[in-house]
Amino acid sequence: MASGFDALVELVRGATFDDFLLRPQYSVIERRDPSVVDLSCRFSARITLKRPLVSANMDTVTRAPMAIVQAEEGGLGIIDRGFRNGDIEPQVREVEKVKRMQHIIIRDPYAVAPETSLKEAVAVMRRTRAGTLVVVDAARRLKGLLTERDVRFVNTREGAVSSRMTPASQLVVGHGELALDVAERLMVEKKVKKLPLVDANGTLLGLITAKDIDRQERLPFATRDAHGRLRVGAAIGATGDFLERAAELVKAQVDVIVIDIAHGHSVVMARAIDAFKQQFPDVELVAGNVATADGVRFLAERGVHAVKVGIGPGGGCTTRLTTSFGVPQLQALVECRQAAGDNLPLIADGGIKRHGAILEALLFGGDTVMLGSMFAGTEETPGDVVQKPVVLPDQQRSVKVPFKVLRGMASIQAIRDRLDVEDDEVVDLEALGAEGTEVSVPARGSVRPIVHDILKHLCSSISYGGARSLGELRQMFRNDPLRYLIKLSASSKRESYKR
Ligand code: XMP
Repeated sequence: MASGFDALVELVRGATFDDFLLRPQYSVIERRDPSVVDLSCRFSARITLKRPLVSANMDTVTRAPMAIVQAEEGGLGIIDRGFRNGDIEPQVREVEKVKRMQHIIIRDPYAVAPETSLKEAVAVMRRTRAGTLVVVDAARRLKGLLTERDVRFVNTREGAVSSRMTPASQLVVGHGELALDVAERLMVEKKVKKLPLVDANGTLLGLITAKDIDRQERLPFATRDAHGRLRVGAAIGATGDFLERAAELVKAQVDVIVIDIAHGHSVVMARAIDAFKQQFPDVELVAGNVATADGVRFLAERGVHAVKVGIGPGGGCTTRLTTSFGVPQLQALVECRQAAGDNLPLIADGGIKRHGAILEALLFGGDTVMLGSMFAGTEETPGDVVQKPVVLPDQQRSVKVPFKVLRGMASIQAIRDRLDVEDDEVVDLEALGAEGTEVSVPARGSVRPIVHDILKHLCSSISYGGARSLGELRQMFRNDPLRYLIKLSASSKRESYKR
């Protein structure tokens, strides 16, 4: 741990994001461009990310569509466990959708036998929307390829696949596990769009397609596993079906399991981790939430690979209101970072309402940030868009505004802010549908531009901080935090963050 970091402990007592500004430094980067500024970070012991963003495991935030975008953009999505107890399959399906989304090598391409009828093969193509089927015999030896073009304009009511396929002898085939660039060169040279891979016995190892290579190259920051598939995490609880759920998720090749409970420094968590570790000693495990040094040490001793930090800062969290327990998030991050030392990654979870706060979370202790409400209402969140009437201030009429539900967000303030509605009296709050911890938030477009904006702002922060990369700024800050920190008075807080 950097020596200057100790000075922070006193400074952050009772403090959170809006209590500080950072003093601008001599800027050394020419372009504040996320494609050239290094934003890489650790998510957990064995998973690194090129961008430090993680979408929250909330049932109104992260399912496959959100997790896919996050991973494509260099972050990670954690699929929530908000499926009924014992109802494991829907969560597994979400994980599978992400893992199948993108491949360098498709390990289990849709396949038919040479003797399969053309009628059936066409039905498989329609059902799976696969334009190419690999033809294999019972021992999975490659016999040919059947493409949509092979069955176009022919009578598919009769005949077998073997009558229309391109036989293996006429195909360009890759031998063994080819590296992507070798495969690409071969495909360009031979002018083919599909490259089946076989072993020395002619057994099918997989399929490489030009489309997947293209996609791969357009997403240079994507978070991928060793096989080139997008990474995804999934949350489980600490009781009930949690081990059974973990087993199914692991079978679906989930990259990391997050044991997520409100109070992670607890006897329930101790039991859950012990049981988990016994059954899945090699699976990457994150646990949380905690907000104290004791809490981090407790999880570290049990061998978790990262810790989720945050008790009560989240937009949807009512813990502090109902129990009066919690730790202001910057204080929590500093104390947890000190306890974690340099080696255990921390995920700063909750309470981030403006882009600048992401940088603060990453400097004060987080390796990554977990975001919920910042992604709410986007196309990739689960749930339907509903049109609700909203009464406009200063006008005697209401307009229909599209909304999506965000569960776990207690405050109506967020909606008001987004709608830019100033006068509480004339807003029909009932019509906004806010009830308890479930609120409606204005539906927005895709989350992708939001992620891009966040990353651009993060690069600007790095420029103001006088560093060349996120890692360098973090190091500079932790070596000498007083060089950066300005603790704000009430009026300077208003000047800085009230708009
Ligand atoms: P933001 O502020 O990004 O926070 O929306 C996301 C995090 O908030 C937590 N969360 C909750 N915690 N009850 C809780 O105790 C809830 O209903 C709730 N909803 C969200 C969670 O840690 C999430 O990642």
